[in-house]
Amino acid sequence: MTEPRGTLSCVGIGMTLGAHITPVARDHIASSDIIFVAASDALVELWIHEMNPNVHSLQIYYAQGKSRKQTYREMVDVVISEVRKGQKVCCAFYGHPGVFACVPHRLIKKARAEGFKAIMEPGISAEDSLIADLGIDPGQYGCQQYETSQFMFYKRIIDPSAYLILWQIGVAGDLTHGISVTGSQHRAVLLSLLYQNYPEDHPVIMYEAATLVIKQARSEEILLRDLINAELKDYTTLVIPPACSLTRNNELIKRIKDIKLVG
Ligand SMILES: C[S@@+](CC[C@H](N)C(=O)[O-])C[C@H]1O[C@@H](n2cnc3c(N)ncnc32)[C@H](O)[C@@H]1O
Repeated sequence: MTEPRGTLSCVGIGMTLGAHITPVARDHIASSDIIFVAASDALVELWIHEMNPNVHSLQIYYAQGKSRKQTYREMVDVVISEVRKGQKVCCAFYGHPGVFACVPHRLIKKARAEGFKAIMEPGISAEDSLIADLGIDPGQYGCQQYETSQFMFYKRIIDPSAYLILWQIGVAGDLTHGISVTGSQHRAVLLSLLYQNYPEDHPVIMYEAATLVIKQARSEEILLRDLINAELKDYTTLVIPPACSLTRNNELIKRIKDIKLVG
């Protein structure tokens, strides 16, 4: 007789409680032996509990003064240990499990490397809600997206004719990878970087998707310079619209026009 093999599914449950989940994600949650949930709202756990009572929170691994890197390692360890026991494991993450979230990617990679079946089921991410609520088409001018601290710690080439979306703006520049919102000194450093491409009075949008159907999304436009003292949460996303027009590449277009079409 062969031993039962563990499996892993990392599913997205979307941004708005109960409203964004796909039937496939719901099925994974309901049919698994054990569920881990990563969502800061306790209501989410209660809701998952109705689908499958064997639910465990991954939020408990976050702590003040503790690096998120350590938290992520612990999350991976606890989940993978259940897969190794032969359990059918499901991890439910708010939003999309593969968008600006390292734990689901690491889990799937590790589980597969150990020979287990592991899949990711997409969900509606903060970006999806942002596109709908702000009426932005990322294809209109193009769209760059960065995790804010990574954007600060590494040299990037910004294109100010495209949208720039900064994730985790609330913890901008935190070298300790903690969970507390950083303050005006960190934001001043970020602003000095952004001023290389954007005027100080450029309008930017602080965005927070509604997590309950009865709530409104926050979509607050401010001037870039006012970001320094703006109210930012760990779940705020910053949208910087283009600051200049697209520049047509006439030289390249001419080269294309000169191509002789065959047939
Ligand atoms: C670790 S990422 C997780 C993203 C998530 N996987 C998703 O699909 O949206 C956390 C960041 O997502 C964004 N985020 C999370 N909740 C949000 C919300 N309600 N509204 C807008 N952005 C949100 C913020 O930029 C936050 O710092």
